[in-house]
Amino acid sequence: MSDVSRRKLMMTGGALGALTAFGVTPSAAARPAWTWSPDQSVAGAAPGAAPGTVAGVDPQWLWDEEADPVLAAVIDRGDVPRVNQLLRGWQRNDQVLPAGLPSDLRDFMEHARRMPSWAETAKLDAGARFSVNRGIYTGVLYGLGSGLMSTAIPREARAVYYSKGGADMKDRVAKTAKLGYDVGDLDAYRPQGTMVVTAVKTRLVHAAVRHLLPQSPGWSETSGGQRIPISQADVLVTWHSLPTHVMRKMLEWGVRITPSESAAYLHLWQVTANMLGVSDEYIPATWEAAYAQSRQLLDPVLGPTAEGKVLADVLLDIVAEVDGGLTRPLIGAFSRYTIGGQIGDWIGLEREPLWEPVIAAAWPKLVAFRENLLPLPLVPAAAWTIEEVIRRVVLLFFGEGRPIHLEIPDANRPS
Ligand code: HEM
Repeated sequence: MSDVSRRKLMMTGGALGALTAFGVTPSAAARPAWTWSPDQSVAGAAPGAAPGTVAGVDPQWLWDEEADPVLAAVIDRGDVPRVNQLLRGWQRNDQVLPAGLPSDLRDFMEHARRMPSWAETAKLDAGARFSVNRGIYTGVLYGLGSGLMSTAIPREARAVYYSKGGADMKDRVAKTAKLGYDVGDLDAYRPQGTMVVTAVKTRLVHAAVRHLLPQSPGWSETSGGQRIPISQADVLVTWHSLPTHVMRKMLEWGVRITPSESAAYLHLWQVTANMLGVSDEYIPATWEAAYAQSRQLLDPVLGPTAEGKVLADVLLDIVAEVDGGLTRPLIGAFSRYTIGGQIGDWIGLEREPLWEPVIAAAWPKLVAFRENLLPLPLVPAAAWTIEEVIRRVVLLFFGEGRPIHLEIPDANRPS
C-alpha cells in the first residue's frame, strides 16, 4: 500500500471514526431480520423441515464448521508454509491430493472436493459456454462491477484490508480474478478444469482468515461487533455481487439470453456456492429467489468505509495500467455507469462529466449492435473506443498467463 493510500485511509478514517463513535456502523446497523425461506433454495427446505413451514437459521450466525477447526489446527501447528508448498502442485480437478498433507486437512479436502449430488454436468457445460460466449460482458462485470462493488461491502472491504493479502492488493486482485477466470473457463468443473481446486483452496483461505482476523486490532476495532468474519451470510452477500449483479446488468443492458442459458449460468454459480461451503438451504434455486435474497442481504449492507475507498482506488490504479492511466477517466465513468452513482460516491469514484454522458449514450447502442438489434451505421464512433478499452480491461483481469497460486495465510496484514 502506497503512502498516498495510507494518508487517504487516515483522512477518511476521521469521518468514519465520528460515525462509529455514535454507534453507527453501516453494515451492522442496516441488516434486516432474516426472513428468506429455505424452500426457495436448492435444498428445497431446511434439513428435517417441511417445505414452506420453517425458516432456516439466520446464516449470519453460521461459518464453516467443517473447514474452520481444521485450518485453525493447521495454523496453530505451524503447518501453513509446508501445506502451501505441497498445494502448489495441486491444480487440476481430477488430480489426486499431494502426498504429505496433514491427515486432518487431507480428510477435509477429500470431502470438500466432491461436487454436490445435484450438480448436472450438461448444465455446467452450458453455463461455461455461456460465460465464454458472453466473455466481454461477464468479464467487465466481474472486474469493474463486482470487483468495485465488493469495496462497498463494508465487512468484505475490512476483512480484505486487514488480512495478509490487503498489504499487496495487486497480488490479491490477481488471485481473486483467478476465480472469475476459472469459473468462466470452458472446462471449469470438468476433470481437466481447475474450478474445484480453486473453490476448495478459497474455502481453506476463508477458514484461515476466520482464525486469524479476530487477532487483528484493526479488524476488531472496525468489525461492528462481528467476532468471526466471513459468515455464510457474508459469503452470500458477495455471491450476489457476482452472478446476481452480472445477470441483472446483462438483462438491463439488453443482452439476449435464452432461458436455458440463464438457468445454466445460475447452476454454475449454485455449484460454486456449494463448493465454497455455503449450505444448500441458502443457495437460491431460481433467479427470482436470488433477486429476493439479494434485496434482503446485499442491498441494505452496501455503504462507505475508509478501507473500501482505499481498496477501490488501488483497484482502479491497477486497471489504469492498461495504458499508463490515459483511459482512467473512461474506466471510472464506465464503472459509475455499471455500479451506479450512489455506490460510486461511496467508494470515492470521481465524477467524469465528459465520459459519463458519452458512455450512457454509446454503450446501449454497442450492445444492441452486438446483439444484432441495431445496424452498424447507427453505432456512434465513441462506442468503439469504449469497446477497445473494455476489452483491454477484461484481458488485464483474466488474460494473464502467469500461474497464480492461492495460498493459505498464516498472519494478518502487518499494522
Ligand atoms: C480470499 C473469493 C467471499 C474475504 C479469497 C480468495 C478468493 C476469494 C478467490 C483467494 C484470493 C487470495 O488469497 O487473495 C471469494 C468468493 C466469495 C468470497 C468467490 C463469495 C462468493 C468473501 C467474503 C469475505 C472475504 C464474504 C469477507 C467478508 C476474503 C479474505 C481473503 C479472501 C480476507 C484472504 C486474503 C488474504 O490472503 O489475506 N476470496 N471470497 N471473501 N477472501 Fe474471499
